[in-house]
Amino acid sequence: MNLDDKQMDKLFALALKAAEAAYAPYSKFRVGAALLGADGRVFSGCNVENRSFGLSICAERNAVFQAVAQGCRDFLALAVATPDAKSLTGPCGACRQVLSEFMGPQAPVRFGIGGGSAPADSTLGELLPFDSLHDLIPYDGKS
Ligand code: THU
Repeated sequence: MNLDDKQMDKLFALALKAAEAAYAPYSKFRVGAALLGADGRVFSGCNVENRSFGLSICAERNAVFQAVAQGCRDFLALAVATPDAKSLTGPCGACRQVLSEFMGPQAPVRFGIGGGSAPADSTLGELLPFDSLHDLIPYDGKS
C-alpha cells in the first residue's frame, strides 16, 4: 500500500512523541516507534533498557508486541524516531527480522532524528532483502 507523505509525517510525529517515554538511562539514546496497523490503529513503543543490558528492548519490537497483544498482526507502515542521534539510524537487524513476521516488503519505513532534519524513507524489503524465511509455515500452536 502506498501511504502519502502526510500520513508518514503523522506517523513520524507519533514516533517522536513515543520517544519521550523511552527508558534509556544507560545509552542515553531514546528511540520511539509508531506502527500503522491494517485496521487503522497506530501502536507505539519506546526502548526500555535494563541494568542487565541484554534484557533491553528496542522501540520497534516494543511497538510490535503492543500491537500483537492488542489483536493486530498486520502492519502497513513504520516510523522510527531517534531524537538523540547524530546521524540517521534505522531499525536494528533483530527488529527488521521481527517486523518481517507481520509486515510486507513493500511497507514504507521512515526514520529520522526530528527537529527539522530530513528523515529517510525506505521499505522493509530494502532493509531486509532476500527474506527467504517467509517460505516457512507459521507455528500453529499444536506441535
Ligand atoms: N534501539 C532501539 O530502540 N531501536 C533500534 O533499532 C536500535 C537501538 C535502542 C536499544 C538501546 O536502548 C539504545 O537504542 C541504544 O542501542
